[in-house]
Amino acid sequence: MDTTLTDEIKRLTSLGLHHRCVEGDLARVAGLTLEINRLKKEKKAVICAHVYQTPDIILGIGDLVGDSYKLADDCRKTAADIIVFCGVHFMAETAKILNPSKKVYVPSKNAGCSLSEAITGGDVRKLKAEHPGLPVVTYINTSAEVKAESDCIVTSANAEKILRKMYEKHDKVIFVPDRFMGLNLAKALGKTPGKDIFLWKGACIVHEHFNPGLIKVYKKKYPGLVALAHAECPSELIDAVDFMGGTGDMMRYVENTNASAYLLVTECGFGELAKLKFPEKNFIAMCRLCPYMKSITLGSVLALLKDPAPEEVTVPAAIADRAKRSIDKMFELAA
Ligand code: 13P
Ligand code: SF4
Repeated sequence: MDTTLTDEIKRLTSLGLHHRCVEGDLARVAGLTLEINRLKKEKKAVICAHVYQTPDIILGIGDLVGDSYKLADDCRKTAADIIVFCGVHFMAETAKILNPSKKVYVPSKNAGCSLSEAITGGDVRKLKAEHPGLPVVTYINTSAEVKAESDCIVTSANAEKILRKMYEKHDKVIFVPDRFMGLNLAKALGKTPGKDIFLWKGACIVHEHFNPGLIKVYKKKYPGLVALAHAECPSELIDAVDFMGGTGDMMRYVENTNASAYLLVTECGFGELAKLKFPEKNFIAMCRLCPYMKSITLGSVLALLKDPAPEEVTVPAAIADRAKRSIDKMFELAA
């Protein structure tokens, strides 16, 4: 084995990645990360990785890592020529809108999102016609076309804060497309769905299916266990947990507390990363895989860096300009 590959295996081992490799597999992973990191430098590319990606991507090749909000903010500031987005398509589209002179790529044709696919620009126009004058507050998990029809974008990291600010100026708002997140926010703000907040019927196929009854079972089995759930989960489950938030909030909660164990109700990549970041803490991941996020692999990133053209993300200028206004409004109100 050559020395560079041996060094890469050592680097990956120091990051704890050997724990998730079967016998002999670490050398294969190291071969891929070595080549990807070399091509990345050669092409002045930056790799963004959402926390639902696998740890070999996040720790082995990721440069900008985090939740949807942090990645959008990082992408608008990056000086790299190329952004390779290991996340889902709407995140890459947001990066392109915020930093249009960069070439943006997603290393998969299948990195959609059930929320993003649940609503179109035409649906938002209809909602606006049904509720004239109401501001449209839109979750970032949407297409550029939907963002272009919106007044302000939110992520799980700032939705409650931004909605509070919206209610200072408006009695009623339209919130799309996640009905569960909408119901959770309405509850937190003391608002009534159908009266002060008008929702859409979208849902995340990962978070809508967790079994709320299991929270009680785990809590009984592990006294002292703290349960954390993503804000895309249904309200019945949120009522049973100790903390609701986005992935960034959940990771900070784990970092800043000392529970005997944490139950993580979200996509599996989050729990895998939490275990590597905080090896001294105990985790129980009540997790489900996101097929869209998991359609990206080290192999698909390497293939993209060798031949990027087919996976370039583009947004028509007229849509991008209007979408950018609603994303910029988020940065203003989240600050
Ligand atoms: P976060 O912004 O909380 O990371 O959420 C993104 C997402 O897709 C959750 O399913
Ligand atoms: Fe979309 Fe859900 Fe996957 Fe997040 S976890 S990308 S909301 S389908």
